[in-house]
Amino acid sequence: MEPVRIGIIGLGTVGRGTLDVLRRNALEIERRVGRPVRVAQVAVRNPARLAGVSPVDFAVTGDPFALVNSPELDVVVELIGGIEPARELVLTAIRSGKHVVTANKALLALHGNEIFEAAQQQGVVVAFEAAVAGGIPIIKALREGLAGNRIEWLCGIINGTCNYILTQMREQGWSFAEALREAQALGYAEADPTFDIEGIDSAHKLTILGAIAFGIPLDFASVPVEGINGLHGMDVTYAEELGYRIKLLGLARRVEQGVELRVHPTLVPARHLLASVEGAFNAVLVKGDAVGQTLYYGRGAGAEPTASAVVADLVDVARTLTADPSNRVPHLAFQPEQLAELPI
Ligand code: HSE
Repeated sequence: MEPVRIGIIGLGTVGRGTLDVLRRNALEIERRVGRPVRVAQVAVRNPARLAGVSPVDFAVTGDPFALVNSPELDVVVELIGGIEPARELVLTAIRSGKHVVTANKALLALHGNEIFEAAQQQGVVVAFEAAVAGGIPIIKALREGLAGNRIEWLCGIINGTCNYILTQMREQGWSFAEALREAQALGYAEADPTFDIEGIDSAHKLTILGAIAFGIPLDFASVPVEGINGLHGMDVTYAEELGYRIKLLGLARRVEQGVELRVHPTLVPARHLLASVEGAFNAVLVKGDAVGQTLYYGRGAGAEPTASAVVADLVDVARTLTADPSNRVPHLAFQPEQLAELPI
């Protein structure tokens, strides 16, 4: 069977995680898609990023525009982050008829309307599960699992770096600066960590969630944002003494005039579910009119949790490319040898 051919732009934390997960779970993925999913090309500015990758069984280029224009690829995975050249690369990939998977929340929050319109005109998919809440399948939950609901509100911890910092300040008594340094070392923080601590990254993600949950255009500029950079250890301690935990929350809800989105540090009662979300974990509470409240929880940052979402999108896109419609539904019948592997 012909493989689905992937091109990856960027081999940073998430790019490397994506390569590792695709390789480790190649058989599972092939079984789910009905065809192998192969990385055929990688564009990387700094060849040192390839250190430790073995084998290098894909073409390597220093020119990402050569990759997006390559006639040999079916899907482009954009993992360089930032606005330019990511925007131009994604639009070029779309115009050349390729599907796109991206983890780039800033790009989608600011230029998503233009990108999705181009994709629609071209009849290709732009998938972005990894852009919000790392490994938590919140985009698929809103689009698919909750598709029968009128969403009333959603609220969540959607930045792993801030949640990690607040947790370490409270549990370990670390200073803000110490905790941020560690979050950077662990690969949670953005290239520019002010995006994390000033709440901008949360606002990018909330903009995307709001658009999907409420069917509104992406409008990052209208989201009021306050980060955690003004907080001190003392704030965290006093909150705890009063029976609260400080969490950076993104909130979206229906109001009379439409939909309100906002990001700010919030005192969450210590008994509330969201208060117990610690470290780089994320959690999103969603209230639907039919289902009531639902909670989505998991690792919101880091190499493999984010790669998990990138690869899920690749599997989705690859399924749409397979000729066999039976590959588009889950296989529910276990083979006897698979049953033997189950921990029961
Ligand atoms: N910097 C982001 C965070 C990475 O800490 O949540 C995942 O989007």
